[in-house]
Amino acid sequence: MNDRLKTIVDLEKYPIRDLNSPEIKELIKKCKNELDQFSCATIPNFILHKSLKIMNAELEKQIGEVYMSKKSINAYLYSKDDPALAKDHPKRIFMKRDNGYLNSDLFDNNSEMKFLYEQEELLKFVSACLGISPIYRWADPLACHAYNVMKPEGILPWHFDSCEFTLSLMIQKPEKGGIFEYCPFIREPGNENFEEVKKVLDGDRARVRQLKLEPGDLQIFKGRFTLHRVTKIEGNASRYLCIPAYVLDPWRVNTPEHSEAIYGKVLPIHIERNKVRSDGLAD
Ligand SMILES: [Fe+2]
Repeated sequence: MNDRLKTIVDLEKYPIRDLNSPEIKELIKKCKNELDQFSCATIPNFILHKSLKIMNAELEKQIGEVYMSKKSINAYLYSKDDPALAKDHPKRIFMKRDNGYLNSDLFDNNSEMKFLYEQEELLKFVSACLGISPIYRWADPLACHAYNVMKPEGILPWHFDSCEFTLSLMIQKPEKGGIFEYCPFIREPGNENFEEVKKVLDGDRARVRQLKLEPGDLQIFKGRFTLHRVTKIEGNASRYLCIPAYVLDPWRVNTPEHSEAIYGKVLPIHIERNKVRSDGLAD
């Protein structure tokens, strides 16, 4: 048994090492209900304050290496227009993006976040909350557990994720704004539901839910089927998050286009593994 995990996760409150403990069984049930209903579950104060400070410091130490992407982008994370589609098609709606990542391959070997991501206990706990097994850590070397940085005025427009499941760990909150908004299960495998997606992009709020995350909270999220965004950051403080990701396919990585647009570079693995998605959804 390693002792480092207990300096990161509040294991007294959330004894995730024992999935059969009554507290964890109850928590798993609650998370699964929320995930099935709303595509999203939140566990308050999951990360200890001292560990958050370490994560904050390791990100700030490398803040100069964060890749900021400022290209306008559509909800499917493409910035290239397709004139063959109807003019009002959601793929032809491009939105302003100002959002950055500290890529996972830049993390120190001893990184607090990297260590947490690599723990089997965390993977098994998340898998139980989702009610899906097996799930895998993401094979993408840039994106698998990247730190997300949104500076003042930063914005992350409506989009779907490439990976099925993400955790969001709030590290530092902005003074105002930076609210996570989402439209649960607006698409599903084999059904893009473009009509409803377009309504949201046009400003319809009927499906939109908001989630308020506090530093230390853990969010489990199914972002491939749920359209989501982060509203503009207001005030002087940046918003820091870590986004460890899990997938159903241990082989797949980001497409070369996504990797270039969002993480600022393409590695050989992105080219070697660039195949059509089995769920038939735009990516
Ligand atoms: Fe996302």
